[in-house]
Amino acid sequence: MRFYLTCWWQPWAMLGCILSTSPAAMAAGVTIHYTCGDGSNSAACAQEAQKWAEQTGNRVNLVSMPASSTEQLSLYQQLLSSHSSDIDVIMVDTTWSGILNDHLANLNTLLPGDLAKGQIAASIANNTVNGNLKAMPFYADASLLYYRKDLLEKYHRQVPVTWQQMTDSARYIQEQERAAGNRSLWGYVFQGKAYEGLTCNVLEWVASDGGGVLLDQHGNVEVDTPAVRSALKRAGGWIGTIAPKGVLSYEEETSRGVFQSGNAVFMRNWPYVWALSQSPNSVIKGKVGVAPLPAGDSDGGRHASTLGGWSLAVSRYSQHPRESAELVAWLTRKENQKQRAIEFSFLPTYTDLYSDPQVLEASPFIGSLLEPIKQAIPRPAGLVKTLYPRYSNAIFDRSHRVLGGEASVDQAVDMLNRDMQRLVRRADFADAQN
Ligand code: GLC
Repeated sequence: MRFYLTCWWQPWAMLGCILSTSPAAMAAGVTIHYTCGDGSNSAACAQEAQKWAEQTGNRVNLVSMPASSTEQLSLYQQLLSSHSSDIDVIMVDTTWSGILNDHLANLNTLLPGDLAKGQIAASIANNTVNGNLKAMPFYADASLLYYRKDLLEKYHRQVPVTWQQMTDSARYIQEQERAAGNRSLWGYVFQGKAYEGLTCNVLEWVASDGGGVLLDQHGNVEVDTPAVRSALKRAGGWIGTIAPKGVLSYEEETSRGVFQSGNAVFMRNWPYVWALSQSPNSVIKGKVGVAPLPAGDSDGGRHASTLGGWSLAVSRYSQHPRESAELVAWLTRKENQKQRAIEFSFLPTYTDLYSDPQVLEASPFIGSLLEPIKQAIPRPAGLVKTLYPRYSNAIFDRSHRVLGGEASVDQAVDMLNRDMQRLVRRADFADAQN
């Protein structure tokens, strides 16, 4: 089967490409405009959409988005608030169902059958607003500590269980390797840019020290706590010592770039990195280990991961809601999730795939992630609803200042406390969902 790819620039500056099976097919069927994140997952998205186009005689226009979840959300908000039909199928982050609710079609009315069957219950609950399913889970995410097995072995270090152990080993290995001429090596890389990724890191640091998500379900602010202070202090101490100053502008792919070129001992990132780090041309193939993120050093310390992941939704302004929903059903079906887990190490949202022998052969660590996914920290999007961008902005902005040395921990805690108090005054906690 031959595919024809036609590309052009969208009015809002995104690259669009249509996949079709023949020039003749361009005349039949409908065109579905589909966003599937940035380049890091476009291979998976294109491959599966191609098959759907081939089977149905429709066309798929794959629209590439910025990498940052924060930037994507603001683009969608602009586009959808003008009721634009430029996009039919939207890939939505874990925290967006409530924010974009008014713009998303109810999938229960567009797709037949029990859509929740076999799925991780929390993934479906997360996408359900007032009883309506607004997005189908596409893949889940839990953060991991990636480490260089070969370097830990060389220096007789254990896989770190606490942040202190991670910091000590990172510093030691960095010093030894640099003294031996490996001058580009850093101890730890993570997502330190002021965007959603930093919010995920901060919530993990705080939870690992026994803290919460800075607000409880009654609207009490929990910012001025020992857990928040110790988390920010510890992370601030990494910059320029075990982490490069450049980490202040790192997203997921930037940190992966440093780690995958062999220039970091430890990295915090999501499961998709596993498959890329093991690809044939990867210089660290066979040298990578995966573990839970370290626990805090205090008595209440624990391993903590933010709950991440993406789902597919249909825009209410789509001119082809039925075909769009069919594409969503196709892309999110179990067989495709299995293939994506095998080839691209994306975490499935169907529970039995976590014990599927082929999935485990390709990505052995996936077998141990079902429980961590179920226990991962949900960001309080159901609680603060449309104010979620403010909540996240306050966290990443204030903590970015600490990392950049522009604010002390005391100053940042004070500012964040006031941000959250203001947010709570505007939020309606009466019908909070989580
Ligand atoms: C990953 C997660 C997503 C999170 C984002 C932050 O893509 O799946 O939930 O918001 O990272 O950068």
